[in-house]
This record gives sequence, structure tokens and C-alpha cells, in this order.
Amino acid sequence: MPQVMIHKNGESYAGEVKENSNLVVRAGIRQFPWPHLNYGCGMGRCGSCASRVISGADQLPAPNWKEEKALGARLAEGYRLMCQFWITADIEIAQDGPAPGQRRGAAAAALPPRRPTQD
Ligand code: FES
Repeated sequence: MPQVMIHKNGESYAGEVKENSNLVVRAGIRQFPWPHLNYGCGMGRCGSCASRVISGADQLPAPNWKEEKALGARLAEGYRLMCQFWITADIEIAQDGPAPGQRRGAAAAALPPRRPTQD
């Protein structure tokens, strides 16, 4: 089963998840990486789940259009939207931003401004 390591605000959290897990879905049902992972919409729109992948990026699917749209140049820096893929192998990530509970808008504010959409 995949091992997940999250670095956030100077702390590190490790846990094991089932293969084919989506970290935001898990956090939404109060399973690790909850309460350490910031997230919001779960649909690739808000950017709250943006995290820099430190290791394991080679085991992830290619970024989809939602990640390209939300992350822009940050994709090249290793950022991904954790709500947009399921993991099948170990992953180590770092998430910027405030501690959970203070997350509304703060993580998204670090992202490039979003253009209005019709979707
Ligand atoms: S939770 Fe909103 S983009 Fe991932």
C-alpha cells in the first residue's frame, strides 16, 4: 500500500493509504491525510489542495486540463492538485499555506489569478 508523507508548516506527517486513493477524497471522509491536507472544492477549481510533489511524481498521471488551468507555471515547479488523481505508489508532498482550520482562501490566494470561466 502507498506510503504518503506530507510536509506542512515545518511538520511532517506520514501514513499509509489504500492503492488507488485520492487524498482529497480520503481527507473528506476524515481519513489520513486528514486533518493535515488543505482542500476545498474537490473538483480542480479552487486550488486549495495544491501541493508540491517532492517524490513520486513519476508515478502520477499527467496533469489534466484543470491542473493546467489552476496551476499554470507552478506545474513546472512540481505542483499538482491533489484532488485530481488517484495514487498507486508512494508519494511525498509539501503544502504551502496556513494550518487546517485557517485555510479558506489562503492557499488559493497563492495561486495565479483565475480567469472567469463559463463552466
Ligand atoms: S480541492 Fe479545489 S482544486 Fe483541489
